[in-house]
Amino acid sequence: MILVTGGTGFIGRHVVARLAEGGKPVRVAARGSRKAGLPDGVEQVTADIVSGEGLAEAMAGADRVAHLVAVITEKGGQRFDAVIRGGTANVVSEAEKAGVKKLVYVSAIGAAQDPKYPYWHAKWQAEQAVAASNLNYTILRPSLVFGPEDDFFNRLQRLIRHAPIVPVAGDGKTRFQPIWVEDVVTCVVACLNEGVHDREIVEIGGSEYYTYNEIIDLIRRKVGTRKPTVHVPLWAMRPGARVLQAVLPSPPVTTDQLAMLSKDNATALDAVPKAFGFTPMSLRDGLGRPQGPAGSDTA
Ligand SMILES: NC(=O)c1ccc[n+]([C@@H]2O[C@H](COP(=O)([O-])OP(=O)(O)OC[C@H]3O[C@@H](n4cnc5c(N)ncnc54)[C@H](OP(=O)(O)O)[C@@H]3O)[C@@H](O)[C@H]2O)c1
Repeated sequence: MILVTGGTGFIGRHVVARLAEGGKPVRVAARGSRKAGLPDGVEQVTADIVSGEGLAEAMAGADRVAHLVAVITEKGGQRFDAVIRGGTANVVSEAEKAGVKKLVYVSAIGAAQDPKYPYWHAKWQAEQAVAASNLNYTILRPSLVFGPEDDFFNRLQRLIRHAPIVPVAGDGKTRFQPIWVEDVVTCVVACLNEGVHDREIVEIGGSEYYTYNEIIDLIRRKVGTRKPTVHVPLWAMRPGARVLQAVLPSPPVTTDQLAMLSKDNATALDAVPKAFGFTPMSLRDGLGRPQGPAGSDTA
């Protein structure tokens, strides 16, 4: 049986669907805050990786684990340190006890020992917990992931549709390498097999680089608007972001996200062909798909 932690999330649901299509017994573990609409036959259990409640039961009988839990915005007890570092340590410990044969951890490009970037720092700490364990593992580090229900591109699309002008955080020159969610799934599923990138960290990204400005241009074209863009320096956006994250349950942007927008988020263009033997989809082609990314306004 394959356990998918965070299997009700954006990437998790696609991983679960692919595994279920392949006829594998799949169990999903999450706190249960989202109604996932999981495929028939997939077992869903309630587990909180922060408190550890339900985790041993979720892990019972699992021989492979895809670990996909994280938060991108801190809320209540859902802090980066608690969920990403502490939660991953709990998952690792229960997986060791259960005798799991392979764990695939989805981290992120940018993971590094640098407390200035708390999300990436927590991701690095989580990777350390995985690598220090007795488990056989692969750590995958994707760049931004796009797909019909993604957060980043849909949020940007809503902003471009509804704001009178399009505010761009910073100079817009930061480089990304967006990767299609189904291509991420292909990498996750491959790595669940023993012998595929065992005990390695593998960075993955799409087939093209885009600056933030280019991403905004692509989405403006998709939405069919010529609304002007206005570049706002990051330092000028920080006080507003601080207020919004203090008062809104789901702020449009946080100070952590602003900090991350100033660092390139990309790897080699041939990372996926080299590591997995296929060419991933570009964002440009993805946006052209009928059900493509940012194609469904999820507001
Ligand atoms: N999306 C991207 O662009 C991107 C890029 C690079 C890396 N990643 C990484 O890919 C992974 C999946 O990302 P995603 O975008 O699919 O995230 P997501 O949509 O936010 O899904 C997160 C999942 O984790 C579960 N969860 C949250 N807190 C939990 C807790 N305390 N205990 C148990 N389950 C919990 C959520 O369900 P409940 O809330 O019901 O518990 C949900 O199933 C993450 O590790 C993320 O860092 C994502």
